[in-house]
Amino acid sequence: MTQLLGRVSPEEEQQFYENTESAGLRASWMGRRLERKPQVEPFAWRWEQARPLILRSGDIVTPDRDVERRVLTLKNPGLDYGTTHTMVSALQLLLPGENAPAHRHTPTAIRWVLQGTGAYTTVEGDKCYMEPGDLVLTPSWTWHDHNNEGNEPMIWLDGLDVPLVNTLDATFFEQYPEDQQPIVGVGESARKYASGTLRPAWEDTNIPYSPLWHYKWEQTHAALRNLAQTDSSPFDDVAMEFSDPATGGPVLRTLACWIQMIRPNVNTRAHRHTSSAVYQVFKGQGHSVINGQRFDWDEGDFLVVPSWAWHEHANDTDDEAILFSIQDIPVMKSLSLYREEPYTENAGHQPITSVFEG
Ligand SMILES: [Fe+2]
Ligand SMILES: [Fe+2]
Repeated sequence: MTQLLGRVSPEEEQQFYENTESAGLRASWMGRRLERKPQVEPFAWRWEQARPLILRSGDIVTPDRDVERRVLTLKNPGLDYGTTHTMVSALQLLLPGENAPAHRHTPTAIRWVLQGTGAYTTVEGDKCYMEPGDLVLTPSWTWHDHNNEGNEPMIWLDGLDVPLVNTLDATFFEQYPEDQQPIVGVGESARKYASGTLRPAWEDTNIPYSPLWHYKWEQTHAALRNLAQTDSSPFDDVAMEFSDPATGGPVLRTLACWIQMIRPNVNTRAHRHTSSAVYQVFKGQGHSVINGQRFDWDEGDFLVVPSWAWHEHANDTDDEAILFSIQDIPVMKSLSLYREEPYTENAGHQPITSVFEG
């Protein structure tokens, strides 16, 4: 309740507020104080529901210059747009013989390949053939187009920082004059920079993103299995971040990409942090508990963990479960806004208060 000083009558006070409003001013003591007001909701999308719809979208539109991309976005129910307040994730379909025309934009994007072979993404002239489990980066303002030379439909998950870049009012988009950009190499980025700790000695990698933009599943899976034999985190189990070989840091300025194995019968401890995440269940089955709500997941499902939501993951089976995720950690850390807290009660496990039925 506002403390009145008694120097004005109620009518004079009312007049004051009307005058401030018509002058385009707002009395800060009448408004909202500094507080979190989360809108992003924990949510899950089922692969068995999404898969037939994305395949069906092939009969509805084609990715020409009007449509650009044939995508179905994972819309968070708490938002008008986006999967979290900073990121948007979407399913994209490319049919045999199709081309998603070349363009570039300031929002950064990643592709996580779910199904199919025979398609490639060209990134800055480098032709990258995509297979399930591959991660392909198309960093801010890099030319990219997708083409399917094979004979099966390709489906991948897109992840972009569009909501963040829109908030910062820095969204720019440009079409390439032709549908396909000229090819200057095939798998060049991977040949030069995917050798782990070795990289070309003469190359200046002073670019604002990872010079490696194609991370192959075979290498990713091998790395994960190696780490699983050695060490793990109590909160994320066997979690690895895809890294920029030039800096060792996140692959993109705004997005981090993770691959993590929840080993058989492991139940991680809960924690929360100011970064948000979009998960894809690449392999296996299990469940997560987010703010007390249990989300059972199966291979192919998608899951959102909002900022500052308690969360833990569990594999209830005897087979490995593998989760891919995009996270906005680099944004929060570069702005010194990242904070993290473990859940200390009940041996680190939240009481389950509801079960997600979506
Ligand atoms: Fe794009
Ligand atoms: Fe976490």
